[in-house]
Amino acid sequence: MTERIKIALTKGRVEQQVLPLLERAGIDCSLVRNKQRRLIFNSKTQPYQFILAKGPDVTTFLERGAADIGIVGSDILVEHQSTQYELLDLGVGRCQFVLASTRTFDPFAPKRKIIGTKYPLITQRYFDQRGQDVEIIKIEGSVELAPLTGLADAIVDITETGTTLRENDLQIYDYLQPVSTRLVVNRMALKQHQTAIYQLVDQLAAVVNEPTSKERA
Ligand code: PRP
Repeated sequence: MTERIKIALTKGRVEQQVLPLLERAGIDCSLVRNKQRRLIFNSKTQPYQFILAKGPDVTTFLERGAADIGIVGSDILVEHQSTQYELLDLGVGRCQFVLASTRTFDPFAPKRKIIGTKYPLITQRYFDQRGQDVEIIKIEGSVELAPLTGLADAIVDITETGTTLRENDLQIYDYLQPVSTRLVVNRMALKQHQTAIYQLVDQLAAVVNEPTSKERA
């Protein structure tokens, strides 16, 4: 078999939404589907290796050449100032960056606000553009806890279905920017495996805007 194309795929929600897309594009994902606790898979039938990693680590693997292709949310790419070459918007993982807080939050109150977020850079840029000086607290997960516990006045986070905000009685005060899952490539890898990578991207591009069999039924 020719040298494998190493694809770093973001574990979790991105993985769940991207696997059907890869399969519709003719890529065998059966090993990833039955992964249990394994993290790396060599396809038995195709020249692909799948690496399952957390979003920020997908960008690190790409930057260091440990992966050729990355599949990762644009939230991560922007926050980590990724310089990797983006080849395709996969059109899944669509969500929004929002400013959110409890009902009693006053976005216009003349005080220095404390903002909890997993995305300090994006948050800083947002408030800089508004000329507002804020204190940013980096939170690793369940960011919604920050205004509920009094740790922060508000949060900047991504929301997809809105369920987490709703179920925690939080509301949206502003929309920052949309997010979706992107296919990015290491430039050296693109030079080395140009034909194979473009072929894969073309296969995916062909299905990105196609309705699924469920939608057609
Ligand atoms: C993300 C985000 C919200 C949630 C929003 O967290 O930080 O908490 O999803 O999704 P929803 O609008 O569909 O409810 P994630 O599930 O990635 O986990 P985390 O809270 O541990 O970061």
